[in-house]
Amino acid sequence: MNIVEKIKKAKDYILSLDSRKIDIAIILGTGLGSIVDDIKDKLVINYKNIPEFPVSTVAGHAGELIIGTISGKRVLAMNGRFHFYEGYPMEIVTFAVRVIKALGVGDIIITNAAGGMNPDFEAGDLMLIEDHINFMGTNPLIGKNYEKLGPRFPDMSSAYNRELITLAEKSAEELGYTIKKGVYTAVSGPNYETPAELKMLRLIGGDAVGMSTVPEVIVANHMSMRILGISCITDMAIADNLEPLDHRKVLETANKAKTKFISIVKSVIEKL
Ligand code: HPA
Repeated sequence: MNIVEKIKKAKDYILSLDSRKIDIAIILGTGLGSIVDDIKDKLVINYKNIPEFPVSTVAGHAGELIIGTISGKRVLAMNGRFHFYEGYPMEIVTFAVRVIKALGVGDIIITNAAGGMNPDFEAGDLMLIEDHINFMGTNPLIGKNYEKLGPRFPDMSSAYNRELITLAEKSAEELGYTIKKGVYTAVSGPNYETPAELKMLRLIGGDAVGMSTVPEVIVANHMSMRILGISCITDMAIADNLEPLDHRKVLETANKAKTKFISIVKSVIEKL
């Protein structure tokens, strides 16, 4: 079965459970899953029940699609994503985004936990992603291109939607939160970076560093979706005063920032 057929199988299963139109999708990053508590009239679909869907392996990542209502809009939330470092091929890492688009969804909010490399940031900040650097050493579009999904050589001159960034800035301002903006640099992981690597990633133009998002953004962009990217800065990743980091710390900070994150996301969705 080719990718197009697999996408259709997954899509048809989801539509058989709920065929109503979805306004926006959101991929929930590490520690940011609790926004699902605010989704009303929920349909929860376990990944393992969706044909062709992979199953997630990381602590702090559930494995559910939640379809319901938030801020008066119909939303699909992906609670638990697939990372390249888990060993999945890129086609699997980005499969859900393909299915989301096949469901007729045009707008997607993609979130993550990231290390802050810009010295103006601090742990607990949220950063709107203005652009990215793919430093993962691979690309989800390598291989046969299906014109039905998107072009062989997709444009990436504005992968992160300007209007959505402006909406998010407006939301943050109304709520009285400061929000940062910057360039997200994606590495494969799973180890956190060495000081020398961080020096390099800062030098090439990165404001934040993480192990996700870029594959999904490339694939969403391939299918001409409108993308809003939000990083939760969970730790400072600055070479000269780098402290030891573990996943627990990342989860802890993401958890502290979640109220801010949830209110901004809800406000953005309301404004759409
Ligand atoms: N580096 C890479 N990925 C991350 C980090 C980091 O410092 N924090 C959260 N995810």
